[in-house]
Amino acid sequence: MKTYNVAVVGATGAVGNEMVAILEQRKFPVNKLTLLASARSIGKTLTFRGEEIPVDELKEDSFKGIDIGLFSPGGAVSLKYAPIAAAAGCVVIDNTSAFRMEPDIPLVVPEVNPHAIKDYKNRGIIANPNCSTIQMVVVLKPLHDAAKIKRVVVSTYQSVSGTGKKAIFELEQQVLAIYNNKPVEKNVYPHQIAFNCLPHIDAFLENGYTKEEMKMVNETKKIMEDNTIQVTATTVRVPVFYGHSESVNVEFEREITPEMARKILSKAKGVKVVDDPSKNKYPLAINAAGKDDTFVGRIRRDDTVPHGLNMWIVADNIRKGAALNAVQIAELLVEKYL
Ligand code: A2P
Repeated sequence: MKTYNVAVVGATGAVGNEMVAILEQRKFPVNKLTLLASARSIGKTLTFRGEEIPVDELKEDSFKGIDIGLFSPGGAVSLKYAPIAAAAGCVVIDNTSAFRMEPDIPLVVPEVNPHAIKDYKNRGIIANPNCSTIQMVVVLKPLHDAAKIKRVVVSTYQSVSGTGKKAIFELEQQVLAIYNNKPVEKNVYPHQIAFNCLPHIDAFLENGYTKEEMKMVNETKKIMEDNTIQVTATTVRVPVFYGHSESVNVEFEREITPEMARKILSKAKGVKVVDDPSKNKYPLAINAAGKDDTFVGRIRRDDTVPHGLNMWIVADNIRKGAALNAVQIAELLVEKYL
């Protein structure tokens, strides 16, 4: 079997750690694994297939002989280093928002638009979508194919792990401080996140929306390859460690009942229907954490429009929302193109 030299860029971060774990769990055909992060991480190691691998400093000459680069070091670092890696012959799968909306760069969710991967040849870069968008489109695509979506209204309940390791630590520390009657320290978020909800993810834009909200609007159209789908979003950070939840209201062109939607989704790749409210069964972040599937439930009719459904969608934002989706793209890349 052919094997590949793989680099994980941002290897010490929340997503980078998971990328390394998933490469091992899914037996990705890795020849040599290179771990890259900032100079702060020199001296650290990560375990891969039972071997301790040192973390190296990301530099311009880090990509010689590397076939695939899984990037999650933050937008500014990707913006600089992804083209450098691509010029050295490495195919970059980038988890940041740096390249997602560039017209010649594919933005891929393997269950939705795997064919777009072929366009990696344009710039040597494939973009991994925003976490909240990935889990939404995995569920919406099969419903769109059945009844054509007109409009989506989504509100998210996003966990702190999406912000990175510092935010996981901040929530832990704030909870401990509050229980011990100590002052709450804020470094990552502008307000206390413990026991609170912040309607603010990423920067605010002139139109009053946040960048995170506009990612959901724009990326959904690009991945679903349909600019007619109207999307409006409110994205909220909640004091949950792992797993994003979403309330999604969908208006369709054609008739689709909750029963039809459940049937379609029960056959959809990467989706699990958990929808038995009489037994208190519906998707929960604590159950989705550590899992690969996207979970959907609370599917019910919206009687205020001719063909409307409401649903609740939950997934592990670090796995399907980031690291797993990136490794799935890498799997298709080696299977079909490299
Ligand atoms: P480091 O740990 O050395 O700072 P998270 O999203 O969990 O905060 O992780 C961000 C990841 O991106 C970490 O691996 C971090 O490495 C890495 N990173 C941040 N800035 C840089 C940089 N300038 N060069 C290389 N890696 C970086």
